Amino acid sequence: MTSTPANDPAPRGVFVVFEGGDGAGKSTQVALLSQWLGERGVEHVLTREPGGTALGTRLRELLLHVEDGGPVPRAEALLFAADRAQHAATLVRPALAAGRWVVSDRYIDSSIAYQGGGRDLDTDEVARLSAWATDELVPDLTVLLDVPVAVGAQRRRSAAAPEDRMESESVRFHEQVAQRFRQLAEAAPQRYLVLDATAEPAALSAAVRDRIDALRGALPDGLPDGHTERSGVRP
Ligand SMILES: Nc1ncnc2c1ncn2[C@@H]1O[C@H](COP(=O)(O)OP(=O)(O)OP(=O)(O)O)[C@@H](O)[C@H]1O
Ligand SMILES: [Mg+2]
Repeated sequence: MTSTPANDPAPRGVFVVFEGGDGAGKSTQVALLSQWLGERGVEHVLTREPGGTALGTRLRELLLHVEDGGPVPRAEALLFAADRAQHAATLVRPALAAGRWVVSDRYIDSSIAYQGGGRDLDTDEVARLSAWATDELVPDLTVLLDVPVAVGAQRRRSAAAPEDRMESESVRFHEQVAQRFRQLAEAAPQRYLVLDATAEPAALSAAVRDRIDALRGALPDGLPDGHTERSGVRP
């Protein structure tokens, strides 16, 4: 049976996702948000895709490890979807149902942007695959860290991080990814915050906090429950 807002259990935590290209500053912002939530006594879970679960850790290795060939685009899309299915069912949904917030470093939009935008698979099909994999679990807020491809690449080089299989793709690939992220945000502005990620980390984090305060303020009693109408399926 498909989960709908009406049959999601309450109370429910808030699901916040950070998206953006490689080196956009997602991990930095996830850490800053976690610190702020912790200071406010908000129980939360930090997680990431791929790899938020034990199975996901193994899938992450398969997906990102640089090796000859690697999965073909459809296999890649299915492996990401398998990771996401496990993540949504065993980590994200249970935490939300227990009233905890979930902050994830990447989610569905990354598949749409990388497998749909970058790999030229049909975007709608990739989106449908993820919607099915997650039983249509949609974040309450997605923060898109929009960074010029060259800046992201430069940051990654400065951090001396080894390139994984996605990061070593062409500039054209990464441009398409960035463009697809922006299109997703433009299509549903009410559940996105798009930030120019060339700003300072502290300024970006402040903008995220403001939006989250606004989100909480819009909820009854400022609490993260009773707002299930804003989750569920959104095309
Ligand atoms: N707003 C910012 N301005 C300048 N440098 C930043 C900013 N945010 C993060 N950085 C630096 O850029 C590098 C990449 O940041 P981070 O790891 O947070 O990005 P990411 O989006 O998680 O990258 P990846 O896609 O590789 O996981 C790090 O060295 C980090 O310190
Ligand atoms: Mg990161």
